[in-house]
Amino acid sequence: MIVFLIPRAWLTGLSIITNGNDMNKKIIIANWKMNLSPQEHLVMAETIKKGVVVSDNREVVLCPSFTSLSAVGEVLKRSSVQLGAQDAFWDEVGAYTGEESPKTLRELGCRYVIIGHSERRNFLGETDQMINKKLKAVLASGLRPVLCVGETLEERQAKKTDLVIFNQLTKDLFGIHLLDNEQVVIAYEPIWAIGTGQTVMPDQAEQVFRVIRQNTIDLWPKLMANNNVRIIYGGSANENNYNNFIKLEHCAGFLVGTASLKAENFLAICNGVN
Ligand code: 13P
Repeated sequence: MIVFLIPRAWLTGLSIITNGNDMNKKIIIANWKMNLSPQEHLVMAETIKKGVVVSDNREVVLCPSFTSLSAVGEVLKRSSVQLGAQDAFWDEVGAYTGEESPKTLRELGCRYVIIGHSERRNFLGETDQMINKKLKAVLASGLRPVLCVGETLEERQAKKTDLVIFNQLTKDLFGIHLLDNEQVVIAYEPIWAIGTGQTVMPDQAEQVFRVIRQNTIDLWPKLMANNNVRIIYGGSANENNYNNFIKLEHCAGFLVGTASLKAENFLAICNGVN
């Protein structure tokens, strides 16, 4: 059997996915987690599609459950709202019960994939090594990973936040050589702020954003780190507090859980970020 290996640069170069000017756009991502029924997914996607004011300054992404990706993808076709997945496996095909490949996700119309969410790290034992493999696979398939990092409350109280973030990024991004036409989104999600109604203080968030930016500059050429990596905030972000974060120098958007489950609240964030 002859196997043709196509360089990653060609694959992404040929793909419909180009950097375009997206890097200058804010990005608001709904992570619906495991909260919606198939029918609720459709209603939410329709409502958000209709309610989003089209803007060149931001992207809106919906991440449904795997089982609703196809149906939500159909709803979002020819709209400005994009499709994302909540996870992806690190291989393209094989005996991996319950998993889904980046290639399939792309075929279903996904552009973004959340990788390394703290709920997967905590409940499913996902390690930095697994996350690293997933990131490589996602990039190789021409998708844009949304890598999640964040500290526990104990780590914050012990003043270890910067170190925790540094360690996660170093391991998660190990051996990844970003190409010109590839993009990464890094979501800073303090674990203690997820689903609790508590957020980090904006100046504390900005401090972590700076750590993340510096880490990417240490890993990749500075221009690329600045041009191909967006940093966003997640953790009880909602329609009442997003403004405190979006004005921060390094904040390029949000990864929203609870507040994305009510179309009205999510739309208030999307349409407010401009
Ligand atoms: P909440 O917005 O519910 O805190 O969830 C954040 C999150 O985990 C998004 O990925």
